[in-house]
Amino acid sequence: MKQKRKTKTRSTLQNAEPAVREFLSSVGFSEPVSWERFLRDVESRFGKAGQDVLKAIDLRADGEYPDDDFYHLKNGSLSLSLAVTFGVKGGFYASFLSWLLRVDLPSPSRILDVGCDNGVLTCFYARQFPDAEVIGIDLHEKSIDRAKELAAKTAVPNVSFRVLDLKRADKTLLGSTFDLVTATHAIEIDLEGCRHVSSIGEVEQLEIASRDLETLAGVRRMVTPGSGLLLTANSFDDRAIGFWTRLLDHAGFAIDWARSSILDWRDGDNEKETCPVFVAENKDGGESWTVDDAAAFCASPAFIEKTEPI
Ligand SMILES: C[S@@+](CC[C@H](N)C(=O)[O-])C[C@H]1O[C@@H](n2cnc3c(N)ncnc32)[C@H](O)[C@@H]1O
Repeated sequence: MKQKRKTKTRSTLQNAEPAVREFLSSVGFSEPVSWERFLRDVESRFGKAGQDVLKAIDLRADGEYPDDDFYHLKNGSLSLSLAVTFGVKGGFYASFLSWLLRVDLPSPSRILDVGCDNGVLTCFYARQFPDAEVIGIDLHEKSIDRAKELAAKTAVPNVSFRVLDLKRADKTLLGSTFDLVTATHAIEIDLEGCRHVSSIGEVEQLEIASRDLETLAGVRRMVTPGSGLLLTANSFDDRAIGFWTRLLDHAGFAIDWARSSILDWRDGDNEKETCPVFVAENKDGGESWTVDDAAAFCASPAFIEKTEPI
């Protein structure tokens, strides 16, 4: 198992919005712990099941472990699932949910959470928007089993979950369209081309994979026209952010640059992590993206200060 550098840890929950602190504490997240401590805790609390997940995390980091098997192992029990989720990205949850409470989105009446896994975020949405109908979907049966268990444990009545591939979701439409679709690190696109251009300006020349375009267009079809998508994306620098925003535009989303942001947080070893969060609207046709908008977003002090060099 790879070791991470150990340094002093900063408080994460203390900086979170009170409702976020209260919710995350109620589902068992306290503060991020060092990677070393996380490994020790998982092994001692979960024995062989814990060891298997830790081994899978290691292999997966090297691209040597199938996602399906990883989620099956990780979601073997709710306590293991939450321990792994919070150990790996508890700081992200605190940062993202606090941002969500501050961003001032219109109150949604129907929310779809794509790739919900064990449902931590989905249950928060349901609690935060008690009048909304909230649906979480995921590819993996074990994830959905754990999400249902968590919903029962947190006593949120307005949430439901089902096993469903995002690629087929717009065909079923799950009743009708949604006025908020959320996807946190659940949609992966091909960013390889971005590594081979020298600046954000050049992402305009890159080909967009039809598979990625179809995935995002499918998401857009589930968003009520004029309503929104909230998406956090894996990205490594401004070229990746530029490419993501261009893809969203091609798929029929207008990015709300004023609400979109760069999130940052500290892991348990006090290392800084960042990711972009995009707020976008299902627009009525017409492309509105310009590389200047994307470059201006990336040139904001928030991005420059918060982004580590590659
Ligand atoms: C990195 S996890 C993120 C989970 C959760 N959104 C969060 O932020 O904690 C990605 C999740 O997306 C799910 N996923 C990936 N592709 C999917 C698809 N095509 N349809 C539905 N779920 C998918 C995976 O099964 C996994 O649970």
